[in-house]
Formats: sequence, C-alpha cells, structure tokens
Amino acid sequence: MGLDNNDDLDSLVGKSLGQFRIVERIGAGGMATVFKAYQPTLDRYVAVKVLPAYHAQDPIFVKRFTQEARSVAKLQHANIVPIHEFGEQDGITYIVMEYVEGGTLKDRLKQRALTVPEAVDFVIQAAEGLGCAHSHGIIHRDVKPANMLLRKDGHLLLSDFGIAKILEGTTNLTRVGTGIGTPQYMSPEQGTGQPVDRRSDIYSLGIVLFHALTGRVPFNAESPLTITVKHLNDPLPVEYLRQVGVPQPIEQVLLKMTAKAPADRYQTTDALIEALTRALTAAQLTLPRWRTGLQPVGSPASPADQLGVYPGAGPFANSGVGLGRISQPLTPGSQSMIPNAKPPMVTVPCFRCGAANQSDRLFCTSCGYELSDKWAAYDHYKAPNGRPILARLSLQNGYMAGRSYLFHQVVTTIGRTNGNDLIISGRTVSRRHARLWFEGGRWYLADVNSANGTLINNLRLQPNQAVPLNDGDIINFGDETAVFNIVY
Ligand SMILES: Nc1ncnc2c1ncn2[C@@H]1O[C@H](COP(=O)(O)OP(=O)(O)O)[C@@H](O)[C@H]1O
Ligand SMILES: [Mg+2]
Repeated sequence: MGLDNNDDLDSLVGKSLGQFRIVERIGAGGMATVFKAYQPTLDRYVAVKVLPAYHAQDPIFVKRFTQEARSVAKLQHANIVPIHEFGEQDGITYIVMEYVEGGTLKDRLKQRALTVPEAVDFVIQAAEGLGCAHSHGIIHRDVKPANMLLRKDGHLLLSDFGIAKILEGTTNLTRVGTGIGTPQYMSPEQGTGQPVDRRSDIYSLGIVLFHALTGRVPFNAESPLTITVKHLNDPLPVEYLRQVGVPQPIEQVLLKMTAKAPADRYQTTDALIEALTRALTAAQLTLPRWRTGLQPVGSPASPADQLGVYPGAGPFANSGVGLGRISQPLTPGSQSMIPNAKPPMVTVPCFRCGAANQSDRLFCTSCGYELSDKWAAYDHYKAPNGRPILARLSLQNGYMAGRSYLFHQVVTTIGRTNGNDLIISGRTVSRRHARLWFEGGRWYLADVNSANGTLINNLRLQPNQAVPLNDGDIINFGDETAVFNIVY
C-alpha cells in the first residue's frame, strides 16, 4: 500500500499498526507524521511515528532503518524518549515511543521566551540526553525545540535520535540546504553536507538556547540555502541577547557553543554542562525551583504495604545464620559504628558545581543538581511521610571517613575506579566491587565478583547474590567499612 499524502495518512485513524490502534494524528514534521495510539496489552497510550511511504519500497532503506532504529532503541536515559517498538506493515514504516503529554519546547517558545534559569535548565537536560547518545556513538543530527518533548513537570525528553540519518542518503534530499534536519538549527558543517560529529549537536543546542532566551532564532531567511550561508558567515547576533538582559557569562558560553569551527566549541556535553552551571553561578542565578524541590512521583504500590513486609526474609532468613546486628563495634570507640546511631552530618561537594552541601540534602542548594546524580526520577517508592525512600552509606575509615552519601532507587555501582556512582578508594576495593539498588520495597546489595569480597555484618556475600539490607547494617567493601541507613 504506502501512504503518501495527508488523506491517506488520515485514513490510518481507527486502524492498527501491529497491536497499536491509531487514535488521532498529533503532529507532522518535515519528514514524518506522528499519531497517538492505544496499546491494549499494556493499557497505555503511545506515540507512533510513521515515516514517508516511498522509503518502504527501498530494501536498502528498510535494512538501514532496522539497524539504526535498533541502536537508537538501546539508548536508555532519563532525557531520551524511550522507544517501545518499530516495524513495517503494508509498506508503512513506523516507530512506537512513549507518548509525552506536555507538548514540545517549540510550543512553549511560541508563548514566550524563557528566563535564563528556565532556558539553561532545559538545555542542560537536553545535553544530558545527548551525552548518553554520544557515548554510544550516536549523533542526533536534528536538535531543535520541536524534538524536545516536555512532561508537565518540566522534565525534558529528546526525541528523534538518528531519524535524520535514517532518512538521509536514501533519497535525493541531501543537497545543500535541503537535507534532512532543520536549517535554522543546523551547524555550518551539517548545512553544507560535511560529516558531523557530537560537536554539531552542541552547535544546534546553542541555537536552541539562543532561541529560548530571545524568542527568535539567530539566523533566518526565506530559503534554507540562505540560512545555511548565514550560519557559515554571520556572527551570532549578540545584541538580541543583550536586549533581554542575558548575563555576560551565559553569552560567553553561547558564543562558544555556536563557534563556526567545531574545534572552537565545547568538545563534549560534559564540558558544556559544567560551563553552563558555572556561568549560572557566576551570574548569581539558580536553576528553577521545581528542579530543586522534591517532585511528586507515582508510586507503584503503597509504600506502607511495601516497607518492612519482609522482616527476616531473604537468603539468610531460614539459614540459621541471620543478618543479626553486630554486638561489637568493628572499630572500638567509633561512635557511628553503633547500629542505628545517626552518622554525623558532613558536607558533600556537588558533583556539578562543587558547592558544599549538607550530606542529608538531595539537591545542591547552589545549582539544583541532584547530589546523588540524576536519578531522583527513579524514586517511585515513598515512605509514609511522602518522601522517597533513599539509602545512605556513611564511610567509616580511610581518608573518606565521616562522609555520607545518599542514593536514589536506581542501581548504584560501587567501586574503585571512575565510572562507578560511588567511588571508594582503597587497595582492597575492586574496580567494580558491588551494586546497591531498591526493589519491591527493599534495598539490596550484591557483590559483583570483587577480589576481596563484600561483607554484611561480617557475613561474606556470594558473588552476584542479592542480599536485602536492614537499617544500620555494617558493610565491608574489602577493608573499607560503611554503615547503611534507610532515609526518608
Ligand atoms: N512521543 C511523542 N509524544 C507526544 N507528541 C509527540 C511525540 N513525538 C512527536 N510528537 C508531536 O508530533 C509533532 C511532529 O513530530 P515530528 O514528525 O518529529 O516533527 P517535528 O519534530 O519536526 O515537529 C511534534 O512537533 C510533537 O508535537
Ligand atoms: Mg520530531
């Protein structure tokens, strides 16, 4: 069959693609049409993106689509729209993804330009998502406000990773200025058909930041070609930034993001995020309130039902060994080794801006970054007081003695080297040592084949065995000791 025009596409409403029942058309971009659809098996709405029909006839396209969609679907990040499925039916190629209800940043910008903290916050979220894709070798190629979907609470999800690449090259659409992608946001190298890398996405994100701050794109014209030429030659019109009072430090970051030569830009999203955070601090601004407060989150089950329902359950429950409280402190005289004693409050430097925070804080008071990294979104279980249930590890020895770290419900990796969420130095700690996570109302710890083992209350864990933790448990990672507490 194959659907080439609007009437044909509208005829999809009421029909099914795979198990997805098309409910209504929600939007159309340059290359595709997006529908809201219902998925009966999971009783939820999804967004189905239908690609142009003429591609489906082309076997090279179909092969490439499958390859590319597979790698994009593997990206899992809080700021990337999850892809549920993709497929082909009756000559219609489609991608099924999460349905995001709050509209796009494009819609938001039609109402008004954003304040500096709002704009920087969205751009940081987009940069976090891009960073994940870049580390998997995927370049977005179409970073623009219409591809930034917003949940109602302001959480941003990037969509359409690699779609431009899927569509590119299979048709004659890749002449200068007429390629896939949106010329207003395209880097000079992309606009002129040269190879692109992560720095091209960083450029486009700079144009989005400019647009968000001023309410207009920096370079516009009637024809795509003229727009591309402006991206190549014209300086960024900073006067528009100054008119709306954008602080100097932010302007500087923006200039570097949108440098004409990729080598003059930020080379990674991490460097960009750091620069934006510093610029915000230098301008004495903080991220918007809603990012620094605790968000209401859906709770899969009542926490009251979940908490404490497994007293004594778990691998040791009937083994006669038990994970009993230790009777002797491991380090005589150490106050905080007494089970359930509150460890002293210490300061924790923010991972992003370096500001000192009390260790019981979830969010940095200077820049709003979650102190236990970006995982607050995973905190689905809440305690009776309505706050998410978190874990705290308080380190007892080594030069990190006295430090406490809070952890969200997502898996936390613990080890000696970079790349772990909690890095504990010490010769007896393995590069990848253990894993801590929350599941079904309880915290669990597992040793991941460390050389010197993980102990809970002096009992050694089997490798990869999940052991439930109790408040006040004493954990040893090799020779390093930590106290575990449940916090909410
Ligand atoms: N996952 C989604 N959930 C809700 N709406 C979406 C989703 N994906 C896309 N849309 C809507 O469909 C519109 C068209 O999307 P698309 O075809 O990607 O074109 P463009 O990105 O150029 O707007 C978007 O602008 C957005 O309003
Ligand atoms: Mg899109």
